Amino acid sequence: MLWLTVAFAAELLSSGAKAECQHTKCGGVDIHYPFGIRSDNCASPGFEIDCNDTKPFYANAEVLNISLPLGQIRVMSPISSSCYNTTSKGMDSSTWEFQLAGTPCMFSDSNKLTVIGCRTLAYIADEDYVGNYLSGCVSACRRGEVKSATNGTCSGIGCCQTPIPKGLNYYQIWFASTP
Ligand SMILES: *[C@@H]1O[C@H](CO)[C@@H](O)[C@H](O)[C@H]1NC(C)=O
Ligand SMILES: *[C@@H]1O[C@H](CO)[C@@H](O)[C@H](O)[C@H]1NC(C)=O
Ligand SMILES: *[C@@H]1O[C@H](CO)[C@@H](O)[C@H](O)[C@H]1NC(C)=O
Ligand SMILES: *[C@@H]1O[C@H](CO)[C@@H](O)[C@H](O)[C@H]1NC(C)=O
Repeated sequence: MLWLTVAFAAELLSSGAKAECQHTKCGGVDIHYPFGIRSDNCASPGFEIDCNDTKPFYANAEVLNISLPLGQIRVMSPISSSCYNTTSKGMDSSTWEFQLAGTPCMFSDSNKLTVIGCRTLAYIADEDYVGNYLSGCVSACRRGEVKSATNGTCSGIGCCQTPIPKGLNYYQIWFASTP
């Protein structure tokens, strides 16, 4: 799982809420107005949290933390993968997209696309046809030794990173085979 930061406009926070809507919890996560649980009718429009099996979700991502002072929420992002299948002798891919268009949130530019692998070329882009953003990076290593990548760093061996620009509110990931 990866960390994602979602930034929202601080001026939206100053508006008031009914007393019973000021604060609630879902799982271990504190939810303060303008966020609220959809079924409680407490959220300011666009700030609805779905509390599902005591786990909070925003858009299609699980919420880990909401910080009003920072204007950020942290969500869990599933990892997209593309792995060789020795049975089918093909690549099995599972890719993920994140849609925040139509919400008050966008991705924080503190996020990076991180790619781990030995012959891995991953792309990240905003929406097909109407988008402006396309980037990606190649992760490579000698003799398949991705274990030389060090936990907690992305030093260039078996790992690469590329920035995510300010203002993005949608991304999709896909893989291409590298020679
Ligand atoms: C709630 O959780 C169930 C089981 O994990 C899942 O099938 C369902 O899609 C979830 N609903 C939402 C709105 O996330
Ligand atoms: C959420 O973030 C705040 C501020 O960084 C921190 O004090 C709090 O412990 C965090 N809560 C969780 C559940 O991670
Ligand atoms: C590999 O491919 C086979 C045949 O398509 C499939 O049944 C199997 O689940 C795949 N293995 C993995 C680990 O995904
Ligand atoms: C990497 O480091 C994190 C934080 O120190 C730790 O929680 C995690 O288990 C480590 N992963 C591996 C594969 O060593």
